[in-house]
Order: sequence, then C-alpha cells, then structure tokens
Amino acid sequence: MSERFGLFGIRHGAEEHVLCHGASQGISLALHLFTQPGDQVAVEVPTYANVLSAFAGLGLTAAPVAMDDDGADPDALDRVLAKPGVKAFYTIPSFHNPLGTSTSLERRKQILAIAERHGVPVIEDGFELDLRFRGDEIPPLAALDEAGLVVLLFSFSKSLFPGVRVGSLSARGRVLEGLVALKHATDLSDARLLQAGLSRFVRSGGYDRHLARMRKVLRSRHAALDDALAASMPSGTRWTSPDGGYQRWVELPEAVDTRDLLPEAARAGVLFSPGTLFMPDARPSNGLRLTVAAANEDEIARGVAALGEVVKRSGEARRTAGRRPGNHL
Ligand SMILES: Cc1ncc(COP(=O)(O)O)c(C=O)c1O
Repeated sequence: MSERFGLFGIRHGAEEHVLCHGASQGISLALHLFTQPGDQVAVEVPTYANVLSAFAGLGLTAAPVAMDDDGADPDALDRVLAKPGVKAFYTIPSFHNPLGTSTSLERRKQILAIAERHGVPVIEDGFELDLRFRGDEIPPLAALDEAGLVVLLFSFSKSLFPGVRVGSLSARGRVLEGLVALKHATDLSDARLLQAGLSRFVRSGGYDRHLARMRKVLRSRHAALDDALAASMPSGTRWTSPDGGYQRWVELPEAVDTRDLLPEAARAGVLFSPGTLFMPDARPSNGLRLTVAAANEDEIARGVAALGEVVKRSGEARRTAGRRPGNHL
C-alpha cells in the first residue's frame, strides 16, 4: 500500500496503512476514536449520505460547513471548528460525493492549517482516489499533514466492486495506535485470504491495467454526460465537471425539490439521487446526483433526454399553476 500511496505523495511507512473492511469501517473507527455521543462532527454541505446515517447511529450530529466551487469554505470551516462540541471534520476533497468536484492544493493547505489551529482531527474520505481520469493528482490532505491529524480512508469498492469489502486507513502516531486497537476490538482481523488474492492482483500489474481501462470508460461516459446535459436540460441548469469518479451534481434553474421529480423520472426510465439525501438537515434541494457507474454512453444520452423532458414538463406545470388567477390572491 505504501508504494501505491507514494503515487499521491503520501510518505507514511508501510505499518501506517492498515487494511480494513472498506472505507466505511475506517470512517466508523475514526468516529469512535474521536467522538462520544452528543458530540458534533463538521461536514461539508452537501455530503455523503451514509456518513450522516453513521452519525445518527453513534448519537452524533452534523455541524454543517458551507462549500464554494473549491470545497469547504475556509471562513465557514474556521467558525465551525472553533465550537467546543465539534470533535472532527469529515471531508471528501477528491471526487466529492455527491458533487464530483475536487479541492485545489491551495485550498487543501488552508483547510489543514485551520484544522491544525483548532487541533481538530480530519477524517479524509479518499474512496475514489484511484479513479482520476484527467489532470494531475492533487496530494490528499494526508500527504500534507505534518501534525498527524489526518486519517485517510481508501477503498477498492469503486475501482473494483463494493462486495470486495477491502479498504484501508492511513494514520500516524497515537491516532494510528487508537485506530488499530479499536479495529482489533471490533473484528480481530479481516478476510486474509481475499486480501492475499487482491495483493497478488495488484502486484501482478493486473489492477493497474484494470484502472487504465476504467479511466478510459469513465472519461468517455462523462464526456457523453456533458453532451447529453448540454443537449437536454433546460437553460440555466448548472452541473459540475469532475476529473475523476462516477458522480455528477446537477442544479436545476428553478426552486424545485428534486425529490418531487423522482417518481415521474423513474416512470420515464431514469433514476437519480435527490439532493435532499445529502443535506445534513434533509432540507429540500434543487440539486440531484447522477452517476455514470451503471450506464453506457447510449443509455446516458437516452436517460438524460428523458430527465430533461421530466424537468421541463414540471417547470411548465408549475408556471401554468402559477398563472391561475387564484394563485395570485
Ligand atoms: C463517499 C463514500 N465514502 C465511502 C464509501 C464506502 O466505501 P466502502 O464500500 O469501501 O465501505 C462510499 C460508498 O459509496 C462513498 O460514496
């Protein structure tokens, strides 16, 4: 692992990367280590839906941090981390879920400096680190961390398949010791046979060949998605431009709760994740997440065309309802 992580500029020793049961287990262990029931954890808005469920299970609440186009907003983060009840910051700087976007190196340094100033540990979710399909690698926070505050989670779920249930956590010093002790207390060990097979696959070069193919597929599917969105969505729709990973965030021009569009979209044969799922307070959202994981270029074109029709029809229906005399009273 340390050789592979070296590609991202991470200089941890081999013993500072610990295999675990997917990134989810790493997140859970880090939350257990850093928090107690009643604490708060800072999260970007929007954020990964399952982490919000994990908070609920541990008696934690989310402390929302606003984002701009480059990731967590530094002023917002500074304010949130200053609160005494906030015990950790969970962040996805590369190929964010649900936005698909990545935070620049400059902003990563700022984020880390803020976390250091407040002495708040950072849980860095690198679940799709291996899936960059264009541009240069940006060092993860863990590569920039001098203070030993960052726990980096990595996963094979997205580059291979979720059922492989292999990920890793990378940490140093006392944080590493705490995580390893908790891991032992939780499940003693992982499925070593599977890990040995995976290790062979990686060492043989098979994994890198697979990644090269995946990146080509992702590049082509995202290009198809760009074309389809430009062709089919109403004017004023905005979408992100990811450099890696599967997901894409689309924001509709009107103040609509995308949850309301889902049944009709499903009838038209297209599914999406409504933005509300990724909001710590479950507020309605005019955003939605699309993924290119299970659709090829043709399916993407057809699906987005169908989605565009649903969005346009719902806009027209709202405008018609708005024109009815009674609605102006
Ligand atoms: C942001 C993020 N982190 C972690 C995970 C889970 O990873 P794993 O399957 O390795 O537990 C997912 C899965 O979708 C995810 O989207």
